[in-house]
Amino acid sequence: MDKLIVEGGRRLKGKVKISGAKNGSLALIPAAILAPGIYHLENTPNLRDVWTMSQLMNSLGAFCELNGDSLFLDSREINNFEAPYELVKKMRASFYVLGPLLARFGQASVSLPGGCAWGPRPVDLHLKGLERLGATVEIEHGFVKATAKKLKGARFNFDVSSVGATGNILMAATLAEGNTLLTNAATEPEITALARFLVKMGAKIEGIGTTQLEIEGVDELKPVDEITIPDRIEAGTFLIAAAMTQGEIEIQNVNPYHLSSVLTKLEDTGCEIDVTGENIYLKMDNQPEAVDFITGVYPGLPTDLQAQWVAYMLTAKGSSRITDTIYHDRFKHVPELQRLGADIQLIENSAIIEGGKKLSGASLMSSDLRGSAALVLAGLVAEGKTDILRIYHLDRGYERIEQKFISLGASIKRVKTELI
Ligand code: UD1
Repeated sequence: MDKLIVEGGRRLKGKVKISGAKNGSLALIPAAILAPGIYHLENTPNLRDVWTMSQLMNSLGAFCELNGDSLFLDSREINNFEAPYELVKKMRASFYVLGPLLARFGQASVSLPGGCAWGPRPVDLHLKGLERLGATVEIEHGFVKATAKKLKGARFNFDVSSVGATGNILMAATLAEGNTLLTNAATEPEITALARFLVKMGAKIEGIGTTQLEIEGVDELKPVDEITIPDRIEAGTFLIAAAMTQGEIEIQNVNPYHLSSVLTKLEDTGCEIDVTGENIYLKMDNQPEAVDFITGVYPGLPTDLQAQWVAYMLTAKGSSRITDTIYHDRFKHVPELQRLGADIQLIENSAIIEGGKKLSGASLMSSDLRGSAALVLAGLVAEGKTDILRIYHLDRGYERIEQKFISLGASIKRVKTELI
């Protein structure tokens, strides 16, 4: 198992290229189930979750091969409709194969993902939506088994805005008979990118980018090539890291529109930000102002940057409150940050932070993907060495993270360890 050793106190400076969006890629890959054929998905992030999704696709009979950031995918031979527990437990996004398998083959069996490090994460909306499209859904031996001779278009409202459920039902509806109207659909850029990909494949979808999606089912779709959108969460992580170290960076290959709420917040803390085309320049000369952060559905502040903002506010002047309205228990990073000397109090779904306290390096344990990113960020500003264990969480969602940080001047080493 690998760990990271971060030596704090270096100012980040330089340019860094942002990879393709993990969550974008995890939606595009299973969409290829809908139409047999060959796909080239460019700007695919070469990271663990994408490997898991590729492994899952291969277990269904597809062939996925990732070369650098280019994914070759052949979905012509899919002949197995079951997604096993071993893969689904590693990554909830595996659930995305349910809708497409059902729509194309009339059957799918996908292991229930279960909870995760920060509490229960239901899939009820995925199942209700598919039932609305006429599927019979049963839960047997920990598996969701869905069948339908032919899905039929329907009206469905998501009680809660859900990225995954919107993606799943949207994919299924493209091959359903008749029209489907989805309301309170998620508008996250990764869902909009998925919808655009489906349209390129021949799907008929109106209202893309809004909470109301109208889908007119078609008999078949065709394979196409696509370029994955940039990863707004990786981008946000690097911007926050630069601000924390009072650095100066340019992040490249990003879509600044996807980061609008985050850029405004960073400016509120005192950062100088300049956007040119696909690049964002950030410079921070002072200790940041303390600024509250409340997560929400897009275009609100992403829950996937909540942990990193908690780390950021440890360096701020004064107190701030960070509230997660999407996942109320997503604060596993807090006790680890406290081990560095952070002054954080957890009250319900908020972290109250007294910034500006001295942080001193310690051994920390990652418990989830974005939480681990927060630990790395804190390590960058803590005095001395911070060891971060169980970084397989980090590797799920960041491509070559330590190399990118090193190129910006950070001192980070990846080493093998017996400790788990
Ligand atoms: C996706 C992202 C994840 C991000 C999250 C919220 C992927 C692969 N992952 O996860 O990085 O943190 O969106 O932006 O894209 N809910 C239900 N019933 C359901 C489904 C969800 O009640 O059937 C609730 C959840 O408990 C949560 C909220 O809906 O409170 C949003 O979750 P959702 O958008 O579904 O998250 P994911 O798609 O799993």
